[in-house]
Formats: sequence, C-alpha cells, structure tokens
Amino acid sequence: MKILVVGSGGREHALAWKLSQSPKAEAIYVAPGNGGTARGIKNVSNIDIDVGNFPALVGFATKNGIDLVVPGPEAPLVDGIEGYFRKVGIPCFGPSKEAARMEGSKAFSKDFMRRHNIPTAEYRNFAVYEEAKAYLEKVGHSVVIKASGLAAGKGVVIPASKREALAALKEIIVDKEFGAAGDEVVIEEFLEGDELSVLTFSDGYTLVSLPPAQDHKRIFDGDQGPNTGGMGCYAPTRIAPQSVIDQIHKTILQPTIDGMRREGYPFRGVLFTGLMMTKSGPKVLEYNVRFGDPETQTLLPLISEDTDFAEVLLAAANGYLDGIKIKINPGFGATVVASAGGYPGPYAKGKEIRLDPVKKDTNVFHAGTLLKDGKIYSSGGRVIAASATADTLEGAICFTEMILLIEPLSR
Ligand SMILES: Nc1ncnc2c1ncn2[C@@H]1O[C@H](COP(=O)(O)OP(=O)(O)O)[C@@H](O)[C@H]1O
Ligand SMILES: [Mg+2]
Repeated sequence: MKILVVGSGGREHALAWKLSQSPKAEAIYVAPGNGGTARGIKNVSNIDIDVGNFPALVGFATKNGIDLVVPGPEAPLVDGIEGYFRKVGIPCFGPSKEAARMEGSKAFSKDFMRRHNIPTAEYRNFAVYEEAKAYLEKVGHSVVIKASGLAAGKGVVIPASKREALAALKEIIVDKEFGAAGDEVVIEEFLEGDELSVLTFSDGYTLVSLPPAQDHKRIFDGDQGPNTGGMGCYAPTRIAPQSVIDQIHKTILQPTIDGMRREGYPFRGVLFTGLMMTKSGPKVLEYNVRFGDPETQTLLPLISEDTDFAEVLLAAANGYLDGIKIKINPGFGATVVASAGGYPGPYAKGKEIRLDPVKKDTNVFHAGTLLKDGKIYSSGGRVIAASATADTLEGAICFTEMILLIEPLSR
C-alpha cells in the first residue's frame, strides 16, 4: 500500500511513524512533512507540496499510485480535500466537506447538537453585532464567546466581565480580528468542570474510540500563561472511568455519527470530541474532524504493534471498520512539547538541534523542524515533542522529561 500523509506537524510525524509499522505499507509520503519525516523512518519520505495545493496533491497521488490519503490538519478537510480524491477514486481517510462543517462552523455544530439532543452548553448564534450585544446585556449566566469559523485555536474568548464580553464581541464581529471566521459568533453558557478529549474512528456506522486524553494548552507549568497549540497531553485520563465513557458513547458519540449519516453527510475519519465533565454529566465543547496535536503523539503509541494502522484507516475510509481489530495496550501515554523560546509570542527559528536515538517505549516527534544539509534546524513555535508509554502515568511523564532534559533544544 502506498500512502500520502498531508501536513507538517508533530501529528503527521506520529501518523507516518505508526503507518510505517504496517506490514502492508510499502511507501509513505508526507506533504510537505518536516525534519522528522525527512529521514530515519522506514519507507517514509517527504514531498514538497503545500497542504492547500489540492491539484498538485491529486497529481502526485495519481502518478505514483497512492492507495490511501491521510490529511492531518483541519483546513484542507474543511476546504474539501476529500472530494478531490473521491473524484479520482483514491480513498481518503477524512470527512467530506459537508461533514467537516462540524469543525469548520461552530454555529453549524451547535445547531446539529440541538437537533439531536446531544448535551452541550446553552447557546445562541449571531451574525449581527447589535443583536448579539442585546443578548449579552440580558443573559443571566456567564458566557464564552466563539468565532464560528476556523481560527487556529485562537477564536474563543472567556470574558471575566460583561465589559470584556462586549469588547470581545466587537473585536470578532465588527473589527474582524479573525477575518471571515468571525462572520458568525456563538455565545454560549460557561461550563465548569474538567475537560477531556475522545478520538473516535468511524466509517459512518461503526465507532471505535481511543482512550480519553487530556491536553494542556497553556505555555507554562501549572496551567499558567497564554494558550498555545497544545504543550502536552496524557491518556487515559482518570477523570473518566469506563461508566462515563459508556455514557459518552450512548448520549453523545453514537447520536453524532448516526445524526450525521441520517442528514446525508456520513462521518468517515477520526472524530475528536472535546468534552466538559459538568455536574450534570459530560457535555460537548466542540467537535474536531481530524486527529489532535499533540493527542496523536500520545495515543498512537498506545495502539498495539500488531494492530495494522494502515488497514484501520483504509477500513474507515472504505466502510468496513467493523471488520478490523484495534487493540489498545494497557498503561499510559504522555507527551511533552518543547517549544522555541518566546512561543506563543515571537520566537527564534533556525537553531540547530541535536538528538540522540531514544530508548524503547519513547519517541521524539518533530513539529517545527527541517532537514538541511544533513542537519536538523528549528523552524516553528512547537519544535519537538517527547512521547512515552509506561505502566503508570507518572512513569510515562518521567520518561518524556528525561528525553528533554538529556537533550536540550539548543546549546
Ligand atoms: N462553554 C464553555 N465553558 C467553559 N469553557 C469553555 C467553553 N467552551 C470552550 N471553553 C474553553 O475554551 C477552549 C477552546 O474552546 P473550543 O470550543 O475547544 O474551541 P477551539 O479549540 O476551536 O479554540 C476549550 O478547550 C475550553 O477550555
Ligand atoms: Mg478545542
């Protein structure tokens, strides 16, 4: 099987690494990839095509006999990459443009949840500033304000006062801080509780979930400082025992997959459901229609080595996921991201990175790196991630810290 992975982050490095363990995978191309996918993994190489250049990706895939396409990031999915490959008959592990609206429009996904009685925060959608303002002035509960469209994880504001809420509303709708992503705004009830993420493979009928993960968005230890793309992750979380996972399946995940299919846009791919564990049970914060970053780096090493990951993705794309076994190892996974100094603000690039080979049960996944003249250089905010598995959560975290301590990013 020849596979084309689309993207250049740590998530895509982890996908290529896991796919390379498949006995069927004869070649894995990553477009455009990073320093970690450029060399060092069996059968994996980079090709220099941008994630948004669908005609070039399709051209490469048809010319090289690609059997499966795996888009990593949300933007190409929301822009309809799946349809480009469907047209030429190449299976794509990812939702159609219609199904990708579940991530591409928060207003759309909230209305979907309302139609299907899926537990989520109270909300209203607005496209007109004056109407949103009038609602904010009379609403009784604390609110969260969300730009409806894709905003690279920056479009959600949790205001501390009504004044802040009004200011955020104006910035999003009137001043267009997030461009067209702010044409519509969701104002929702602020929910209290612990957060977790569930990643679920689906072919539109069958659902198979990975262990629940918890990610850490803020830059500093102890949940301090500004939000980032995600600084770390661990799984399974202890905040969701099996009974709660079962409840999430019954009241949220199954109705979501069934509802999408019945409305004519079946979900094929991996559905990432962000949840808040509230006093009145789990509620959906949002859907993503692709693997998370860094959740992927944490979760894929927990999938057993004898699970054929390429076959899992192909089965989800082609509608026979109920014919496939996905085995999860016992134990825990943890990921810690090393970022460039200054990130998520302005940061330096182009620093040389030296990494020793890592021990069993640990991985270094590259994100913002590139290979030049045989050397690895930093090229992004999140540079590398250390991932490890162990019998205990503490053990897994300890392994990741050892990797990062032994090998400082730049000297
Ligand atoms: N209704 C809510 N109540 C409390 N916190 C929320 C709520 N909605 C979102 N958040 C917080 O904001 C973060 C980002 O919101 P989310 O809907 O996941 O958007 P995105 O990931 O696209 O930025 C969540 O991970 C959560 O911490
Ligand atoms: Mg989110």
